[in-house]
Amino acid sequence: MENSNILPRHNSYELPIAAYGDGCYIIDKNGKKYLDGSCGAAVSCLGHSDQTINDAIITQTKKLAFAHTSFFTNEPAEELAKLLSSNSPVGLDRVYFVSSGSEAIEASLKLAKQYFIEIGKPKKHRVISRKQSYHGNTLGALAVGGNAWRRSLFEDLLIETSLISPCYKYRHQDANESEIDYGLRVANELENEIIRLGPDNVMAFIAETVVGATAGALTPVEGYFERIREICTQYDVLLILDEVMCGMGRTGPLFACDEEKIIPDIITIAKGLGAGYQPIAAMMCQNFIYDAINQGSGFFQHGHTYLGHPIACAASLAVVNKLIKESFSEKVIRKGKYLQKKLEITLGQNEYIGDIRGRGLFRGVELVQNRETKEPFPKNFNIAGKIKKRALDLGLICYPMQGTVDGTIGDHILIAPPFIINENEMNEISQKLEKSMQNIYN
Ligand SMILES: Cc1ncc(COP(=O)(O)O)c(C=O)c1O
Repeated sequence: MENSNILPRHNSYELPIAAYGDGCYIIDKNGKKYLDGSCGAAVSCLGHSDQTINDAIITQTKKLAFAHTSFFTNEPAEELAKLLSSNSPVGLDRVYFVSSGSEAIEASLKLAKQYFIEIGKPKKHRVISRKQSYHGNTLGALAVGGNAWRRSLFEDLLIETSLISPCYKYRHQDANESEIDYGLRVANELENEIIRLGPDNVMAFIAETVVGATAGALTPVEGYFERIREICTQYDVLLILDEVMCGMGRTGPLFACDEEKIIPDIITIAKGLGAGYQPIAAMMCQNFIYDAINQGSGFFQHGHTYLGHPIACAASLAVVNKLIKESFSEKVIRKGKYLQKKLEITLGQNEYIGDIRGRGLFRGVELVQNRETKEPFPKNFNIAGKIKKRALDLGLICYPMQGTVDGTIGDHILIAPPFIINENEMNEISQKLEKSMQNIYN
């Protein structure tokens, strides 16, 4: 943009200037309205003008803006930690507040490493994760992510990580294989890799409970995560679930793993935690990890300036209270079913739609050149990029990405609207999406 000093994400795009928020819409400086069909990147779960959250921020600002966590704790952080742990899977009672999803991942990796040092297993250091996953853009988080394109430029700066297959039934379940058998087959890749590396060397397995940005709302098949949990326990490998995108009610329950009937050792949450009103993320760990540190060195050797920021925590406290008190879990499940149906009706006949999937208000649409063979579009067609631009022109924000199939090729669109969305607005999403896909091959 002319006269801008911002270092932008893309130098060649002229971006509109976002000026106001109104419910599910963002309004630019020229007055054009955009329906936020993806909450940016699954962030603004309560829309863009929630008075309760704005009031909570103002109230806290008047009391205290900042107090460094090496000198003080603060009330919003304490209260938020209590609220989260009392609504989380059993035992995740210690919460570490940071400012971004990537920071939460970094903290989880360092906590895992320190835990094994504290309990006398210092050799454990290797991390196993999955292809087509995304865990953030800082170097540690990027290193454990499985998106080939995002990693490629920085490969020589990244710690060595093993990548196993994602749980991606649309592409990888064999025709003669049941869903359960498929799930066990891919989960068992974890066991094989732990054995190959030597269990004494393996520290953690990290996975998104429902894969977001890099594969488009990929839900695990039944039994997959139960087998993963079993393997982690058997080989004393910490299970880190990354719910930065899929957590905080995006798929329905506050913690997406509730549906998988498993309890992780460490979990990360962000995005919907602050709903975009403040930058906040968290890492939560099991009591046994906290106890090991408490009875060992006595401190987690980590830290950032803005840990437990009072205003961020006050905003998040208001967000999480609202999500719980106003039963957004049920609303998201109900609205998600409507959205799925609407997308199937509107887009299902399009010859380039291969799969429409997801859970709650977290939906993915995968595009293919050929529905029979599932052949993706060539990368240079940049189908995802074209749809993003066309949708934006039509006043719809959605989250298209390339790399769905192998981190480089394949296209999908992520739909993740605010939880306050109504049926008319969901209709608008599917209509505008359909329109932005017309003659996409040309
Ligand atoms: C699953 C997942 N983990 C981690 C991150 C990184 O979060 P942030 O961008 O806040 O650093 C993201 C961001 O999209 C994400 O989707």
